[in-house]
Amino acid sequence: MSGKRAPSIVILTGAGISKESGLDTFRDADGIWARVRIEDVATPEAFARDPGRVHAFYNARREKLTGGAIVPNAAHTALARLEAEWPGEVFLVTQNIDDLHERAGSTNLLHMHGELLKVRCTACGEMMEWRASLAVEDTCSACGRGGGLRPHVVWFGEMPFEMEHIFETLSDCAMFVSIGTSGNVYPAAGFVSHARQSGTVHTAELNLEPSEGASIFAETVYGPATEVVPDFVDRVLREGISALG
Ligand code: APR
Repeated sequence: MSGKRAPSIVILTGAGISKESGLDTFRDADGIWARVRIEDVATPEAFARDPGRVHAFYNARREKLTGGAIVPNAAHTALARLEAEWPGEVFLVTQNIDDLHERAGSTNLLHMHGELLKVRCTACGEMMEWRASLAVEDTCSACGRGGGLRPHVVWFGEMPFEMEHIFETLSDCAMFVSIGTSGNVYPAAGFVSHARQSGTVHTAELNLEPSEGASIFAETVYGPATEVVPDFVDRVLREGISALG
């Protein structure tokens, strides 16, 4: 048994991977930010100013996600297969707050922007699974206080979760793959540059169209995620990483 560890893969996903499951992206012409202002629903100031409006925004998205019509697609399933069949670690960092990666079977998964189906108490920090609507008057099951429950979602101006761990995995991986993200929002948009600093890493972008950071990637594949992601995973499992690019 050689001491050489099997090469690890880090994957970043964005809203584009869930689009064909029926969830909107943010910056496409029909995206969420074309209908709602970030300043009104996705900042700490918005929540302080009008918590009811912020709850309504996330309640509508939570109701859609849990309503039964939204299910993982072939791209989510392909990434779960890669994790199951690749001999090395496959670490999936998602910017998405939906639970489609989990439902597709991915387990080595980190929601850097939080999760729509969790809420957090701003008074005591307790985290709770929450699939129903959330209202200002709802009380925390741990400390009993009302008025302090918020979506466990990272808002603009807040720090994404587990950044140190993410940068460590990027520095140590053999391949970084970015899927379904426009490369507009940092720190996620900077992951490809961080990965490339560590030298021998293959980088690939799989997206519907070139992202802001497209020129930084060694390999780019454009098309709908349900087509390009399963094909890419098949190729990696068949040929390994070195054959790519
Ligand atoms: N298949 C693959 N990619 C697609 C598809 C599809 N079917 N449909 C759209 N895309 C691509 C778009 O071309 C775009 O590049 O997905 C990307 C989605 O980009 P955004 O809408 O900006 O979403 P994302 O990159 O995930 O946003 C990052 O910004 O608003 C914040 O916190 C929010 O996590 C989000 C972050």
